[in-house]
Amino acid sequence: MKIGVIGLGFVGLTFASILGNKGYDVIGVDTNKIKIKSIKSGKLPFYEPKLENVLKNALTKKLSLTENIEKVVEKCDLIFLTLGTPMNKNGNIDLKIILSVCKKIGEILFKSKNRPIIIIKSTVIPTTTNNQIKKILEKKSNKKVGKGFGLITNPEFLREGKAVEDTLNPHLVVIGCNEKYDAKKLEEFYAKFHNQKISVIITNNTTAEIIKYANNSFLATKISFINSISNLCQTLPGTNIDEVAKAIGIDPRIGNQFLNAGPGYGGSCLPKDVQALIACQKNLGVESTLLNAVHQTNILQIEEIIKLIKKTVINLKNKRITILGLSFKEESDDIRESRSIKLIQKLLKKQSKITVHDPKALENTQLIFGNKITYCEKIIDAIDNSDCVILMTPWEQYSKLQNIEFEGMRKKNIIDTRRILNIDDNGINYIGLGIGY
Ligand code: UGA
Repeated sequence: MKIGVIGLGFVGLTFASILGNKGYDVIGVDTNKIKIKSIKSGKLPFYEPKLENVLKNALTKKLSLTENIEKVVEKCDLIFLTLGTPMNKNGNIDLKIILSVCKKIGEILFKSKNRPIIIIKSTVIPTTTNNQIKKILEKKSNKKVGKGFGLITNPEFLREGKAVEDTLNPHLVVIGCNEKYDAKKLEEFYAKFHNQKISVIITNNTTAEIIKYANNSFLATKISFINSISNLCQTLPGTNIDEVAKAIGIDPRIGNQFLNAGPGYGGSCLPKDVQALIACQKNLGVESTLLNAVHQTNILQIEEIIKLIKKTVINLKNKRITILGLSFKEESDDIRESRSIKLIQKLLKKQSKITVHDPKALENTQLIFGNKITYCEKIIDAIDNSDCVILMTPWEQYSKLQNIEFEGMRKKNIIDTRRILNIDDNGINYIGLGIGY
């Protein structure tokens, strides 16, 4: 069996590398020449724990890389589309990339005898596979879905920072397809690919698309919910959001995951998917009160942090503020929709002097702020002379900081938005987000 993976971002490159590592005959495709060159030399275009070794191993086996999709369409049995579906300014999903690739695939299929199964792993709004994608493929190839090629919606659930584990052992495989034969083939493929037995849901394409959005939107809802309760705790002395989260998380109907209060959710998925689902509901005349509230709560969470900073340093102008953690989550260098970036933008408007530290995301942050802020490789350099330290991303190294490391601060104010610091308040004004004082 020959496999093609088109689009080498987090999902595509992780999947192609693991396939190659497991000995599958796999071709990875990306139009970005520089990226392909770097991947060929075993270098990842982003930071993802454990992936570099998997990639290097795969390159010694049967993973090949190219900028050209021709060979993939002509030779592969399974073609996975793992292309980005970014958000445009109105919150709508931008399908340009995936539709233009489908157009090319259709044109190649027109001349080819191959009957591949095309598998949409990219996140696409409900009805995209059955409408735009199917139409473009059928029109350009002059072949019918089910006959000339298979078409499956197979959403991905991997998390950045855990991409390798999640690809090997996902909690679920969703196969959205109208042809039983193709669905069975993909189910058999995954049964061999995964390390252990994984639950499989077989449904139609549009339901599979909705499952992906419902999943991410529900996770976002949990976060906005716990953040709104956290803001209540903040106002009530003696209360602690982590105790509340722990208690409600014991109720099996609620579950204990995604109840960590913080600065709000970021990244390339949750913020985008909530907004795309709101836009999709609006287009279909469906009420989206709940998701609007989830989204608004997330935006406003930054204001809660600003309120806390103002409480400590009163006037933000010319105050030295240190941000610990820039990536949208730990174990990642990704700053897309990172709450830290939004916070820095707001503080710069108030003319604060910003110093930042992050174990992996300094370079990406420099591309946004240039010389408007100060970058530190060492945590201690970022802390020294600060009027207020704000911990934003829960990197493990921050949880190991002790009182002594904050000795050099100009004013010892610390706002811990994740409540991971292990310091006593001896001479330090420590404020944990979601703790009432
Ligand atoms: C998310 C989903 O978790 C994946 O299942 C999905 O495959 C992926 O989007 C996607 O659609 O591609 P990811 O964006 O990597 O994964 O990150 P998450 O682990 O979901 O975290 C998202 C944000 O929520 C982060 O900013 C994180 O700090 C925040 N978060 C998460 C909280 O503030 N509290 C929590 O309890 C959990």
